[in-house]
Amino acid sequence: MPNEIRNIGVLTSGGDAPGMNAAVRAVVRVGHARGLNVTGIMRGYAGLLKEEMQPLSQEDVKDIIQRGGTMLYTARSRKFMEKEGLELAASNLRRHGIDALVAIGGDGTFHGALDLSRLGIPVIAVPATIDLDLACTDYTIGFDTAVNTAMEAIDRIRDSSASHERISIVEVMGRNAGYLALWCGIACGAEEVLLPETYDYNDKALIERIKKRVSAGKKLNLIVNAEGVGHSESMAARIENATGIESRATNLGYLQRGGSPSSKDRVYASKMGALAVDTLLAGRFNRAIVHQNGEFTDIDLEEAMSMKRDIPEDWLALTVDLKRQYN
Ligand code: F6P
Repeated sequence: MPNEIRNIGVLTSGGDAPGMNAAVRAVVRVGHARGLNVTGIMRGYAGLLKEEMQPLSQEDVKDIIQRGGTMLYTARSRKFMEKEGLELAASNLRRHGIDALVAIGGDGTFHGALDLSRLGIPVIAVPATIDLDLACTDYTIGFDTAVNTAMEAIDRIRDSSASHERISIVEVMGRNAGYLALWCGIACGAEEVLLPETYDYNDKALIERIKKRVSAGKKLNLIVNAEGVGHSESMAARIENATGIESRATNLGYLQRGGSPSSKDRVYASKMGALAVDTLLAGRFNRAIVHQNGEFTDIDLEEAMSMKRDIPEDWLALTVDLKRQYN
């Protein structure tokens, strides 16, 4: 481990998330404010293997806080996950005089950072993913914007669906986690919220509930379906067959990842990026920046990656209790 941190590297990796730019800006600006040099590593771990690096000045991060995506670009790298790739990444960092790395991203990025720390590279991982699927933190950069973007899109689909008296299934991202779907479902007043954590793939029960609502006179049935459940198209076809009501599936796809970050994502990302720098300067290495119980803090990265979290029961119950009852 280096005695002194003079030059820090920063990268964004995995799926882009709105607010990543604000985090990069904070690392650069706070890094410079503390007398450090900051090197931007392009295209995540993939770029690190190819030595795609450049010094980042304070000027370089102007005019990005309001932009979605990431100015450093991002990628997923298979090669980095192999032993030779990891060793090459670590030696590239050393060769370029980078004393510590700030890795901004989701689960894969955190795993990559942990692997690098085991090769003696001081790392700080900053959570940024629209999936909110890191158990160590109750906030990940990008989630807030993605929920709002998806919510607005679902509201629009609802207008069209109501006009045509159709049933609509809207599929939202989230990989294997249902947080995005849960929030969208509650925010949009969906009749059904299908989550990978709980859905039993029992279409029959789902269809029976829809039929019950239809026979009570309810025409609009909005179903928010998580990517982890999937099969929205075939589900819509089965629902249409069983109910005789036109049913449509819409997959919101990548639009959920784009767009200007919300104020929360900008401010929280700024705070987390700044904390990443100060954690390194305090000599605390191999940490994850997290938001827990309303506080920003840093915790051991290995411990962070071993944490497990389920969607709390009361939140699951809320999606049921908020539904209008048809007895
Ligand atoms: O992790 C963010 C995310 O958008 C997930 O919700 C989704 O499953 C995945 O990335 C899609 O990844 P890609 O950009 O590689 O298609």
